[in-house]
Amino acid sequence: MKLSAPSALQNRGPILESLRATFRDSSLEELPLSPVRALEIASGTGEHALHFADSFPGLVWQPSEVSPQLVQSIAAHAREAIHQNVLQPLHLNILDPDATIGKLKDMEFQFIFCSNMFQVCERHAPDCFFKVCDAVLSHELGSKVFLYGPYLQGEKSAASNLQFHRLLQSRDETTGVHELDHIVEVAAQHGFPNREVTQMPTDNFFLSFSRE
Ligand SMILES: C[S@@+](CC[C@H](N)C(=O)[O-])C[C@H]1O[C@@H](n2cnc3c(N)ncnc32)[C@H](O)[C@@H]1O
Repeated sequence: MKLSAPSALQNRGPILESLRATFRDSSLEELPLSPVRALEIASGTGEHALHFADSFPGLVWQPSEVSPQLVQSIAAHAREAIHQNVLQPLHLNILDPDATIGKLKDMEFQFIFCSNMFQVCERHAPDCFFKVCDAVLSHELGSKVFLYGPYLQGEKSAASNLQFHRLLQSRDETTGVHELDHIVEVAAQHGFPNREVTQMPTDNFFLSFSRE
């Protein structure tokens, strides 16, 4: 059954603009000779996957999720893709990076996208995520990892992000909003030292990482 998330419908426009700015040089709005593959971790309802795949016909979008119910929703949205460029969703648990890498064996991606997952996972999720990225992201120039979501910035943290962090921790102290500097550090440890940080609406960030 197709599910819907109001937040995904709200933020997909600004995220699309950030992706468009990055993809502008790669002619992804046309149809390249060989498809460019994007992996999405924690695709949620599948609405992001559908929106971005519809917007970039040159991409083949591989969604994934840990929740079986959401895997079904993603599959239902994927069937509506205008260019038929959303693959069947994979069941992936990022907290088990070795199994995830095993399931993605023989696949290589030019882009990896993940939105709003870290804060709902256990604290070591960024480490697991970038381990997977290092294993499956192509070494071709221009390959990138994109993250979208709220992050803390020490004393400069937005009040709304601090409030969100406290709310998440009051429900489950193993979760919570991460410090942006921590994400940057973990990315560099896994071989992604180059990053661009873009401030987005409602105190969110769009982060782009690449290899040296
Ligand atoms: C706040 S939702 C965001 C969903 C979607 N990316 C979006 O922005 O609308 C967090 C998502 O992370 C997924 N998730 C939680 N733990 C996960 C894990 N260990 N591995 C993969 N996905 C996970 C949840 O199932 C959920 O869909």
